[in-house]
Amino acid sequence: MKRRQAIALGERPLGQSYKSRSPLPLNPHITSLPPYNAGMNVAVARAISGRDDIARLASNENPDGCSPKVVAALASSLFEPWRYADPACAELRAALGEKLVVDPGLIVVGNGSEEMIAAISRAVLAAGTSVVTTVPSFGLHEIEPLAVGATVVKIPMTPEMGFDLPALEKAISSQPRIVFVSSPWNPVGPGLDHAALRRLVSAVRPGTLFVLDEAYFEFSDPGAPDGVEVLRASGIDYVVLRTFSKAYGLAGLRVGYAVCSGIELATVVAAAKTPFNVNAAAQIAAIAALADASWMKASANGVRAERERVAAALAGLGFRVAPSQTNFIFFDCKGDSASPAAELLRQGIIVKAWRERGYETYLRVTIGSPADNDRLIAELAKLVRR
Ligand SMILES: Cc1ncc(COP(=O)(O)O)c(C=O)c1O
Repeated sequence: MKRRQAIALGERPLGQSYKSRSPLPLNPHITSLPPYNAGMNVAVARAISGRDDIARLASNENPDGCSPKVVAALASSLFEPWRYADPACAELRAALGEKLVVDPGLIVVGNGSEEMIAAISRAVLAAGTSVVTTVPSFGLHEIEPLAVGATVVKIPMTPEMGFDLPALEKAISSQPRIVFVSSPWNPVGPGLDHAALRRLVSAVRPGTLFVLDEAYFEFSDPGAPDGVEVLRASGIDYVVLRTFSKAYGLAGLRVGYAVCSGIELATVVAAAKTPFNVNAAAQIAAIAALADASWMKASANGVRAERERVAAALAGLGFRVAPSQTNFIFFDCKGDSASPAAELLRQGIIVKAWRERGYETYLRVTIGSPADNDRLIAELAKLVRR
């Protein structure tokens, strides 16, 4: 019964592809997709744990919420729900262009950066083309290319839980149509430093699009490379992806964007999205969030400090913890991580047990409020002592 309900909601048990019994021929690229490992719904977590105070540490949301200026803008007369939003997001693109010192014509705004991953895949890939990414990976870097019939080569992390630069260089120089690299890296955590980013960029040959997904850019330590700046001077075809979902705290509104290397690429990526993809509330909120940089910076600083505290505590409990430049921590539980994840859930803490083959012993935990982080550390300590 539970399984049938899950399928009715468009979800599938992890690790299984959808088996159709319909006489209607369905798109085999879609029916064979691996499922996306989304964070658990809070109502389900409440039902399982019997607790109201759920610590949501699975989806890398911002524990501080969002800038109060966002809430004020949404409550103002700027927000007219009865009007269609600007399909070009002109005001937001102008604000982003000014902040990033980029021609707004090179920026495409999406319903979350996830929509841009889909649009880039539709715009650039076709059946039979290939994509390179890392493993463990952000699910959509694999799912969206597979959805359009491409094949995906995944380069594993090193034993030290870092980027395998020689293997990535080799795979990139084999001229895949797209390279998707997230830096800082979801789910592992480290970021490419200047030299490493330059090495990967140098491996890109004509005919390959280099997509640098910087969803967690704002959580990087000072001095980390800024992909928009570095790639501007590179001469390669590229897209830098950023989002308002993480450091700006707008995950529920769905706004992300692509900074493209050229007008033609930006035009084709924009053509591959739906016309009214970013709703009016999201556009108003993103403009207000961008204008309140001091709120975002203070929040990101707080998250960074908590990240170091939680990482040290987990290492102190004996876990092998990956270096992180993000708002989450990835660590090895040395046994199937589904079991500690289930125990944490019984205590009202949602975390993400990694399910990609070869990485099932890893847990990814989002940095939450200090109180939620304390709860996580205390419950993990109990599990370790058992
Ligand atoms: C690396 C990476 N890219 C893109 C996204 C998509 O974010 P959004 O669609 O909320 O902008 C995420 C979300 O978790 C992510 O981790």
